[in-house]
Amino acid sequence: MKTNRTFTMLKPDSVEKGNIGAILEKINASGFRIVALKLTHMTRRDAEAFYAIHNERPFFGELVTFMTRGPIVAAILEKENAVEDFRSLIGATNPAEAAEGTIRKLYASSMGENAVHGSDSDENAAIESAFHFSEREQF
Ligand code: RTP
Ligand code: MG
Repeated sequence: MKTNRTFTMLKPDSVEKGNIGAILEKINASGFRIVALKLTHMTRRDAEAFYAIHNERPFFGELVTFMTRGPIVAAILEKENAVEDFRSLIGATNPAEAAEGTIRKLYASSMGENAVHGSDSDENAAIESAFHFSEREQF
């Protein structure tokens, strides 16, 4: 397991609003190296599998509908302490509670449509990276 890596998705709201460039710029400026990158559109089955951990939660249906309504940008990011530092950079799940300067404070519109995903552990970063990228797509 590569513990200096995390996985992110720029969610459909970020792509729709034309925020891909600005968010990637902020990620780079914060010291993360992009080691894999793609624009992709998840099927319902993909999103249900990716977020399976939440399948009993009341917002699960809404989450799957949102994550499949348009393309996303998937990426693997490298930096020392990547998982924790990236969670700090994106801010709280609810943008109303996200700190000033965080990606969600800047670009998210609601708890559901919150601009970006960030892995919550090294183990999940590895699982989520492998979900979207083959070994030969990672640099
Ligand atoms: P993510 O996994 O996307 O990085 O977000 P997170 O860790 O901050 O939040 P998590 O608890 O893992 O929830 C996953 C995503 O589900 C949507 N959500 N909606 N309406 C709601 O109450 C609600 N709660 C969560 C959000 O899109 C959240 O990012
Ligand atoms: Mg999460």
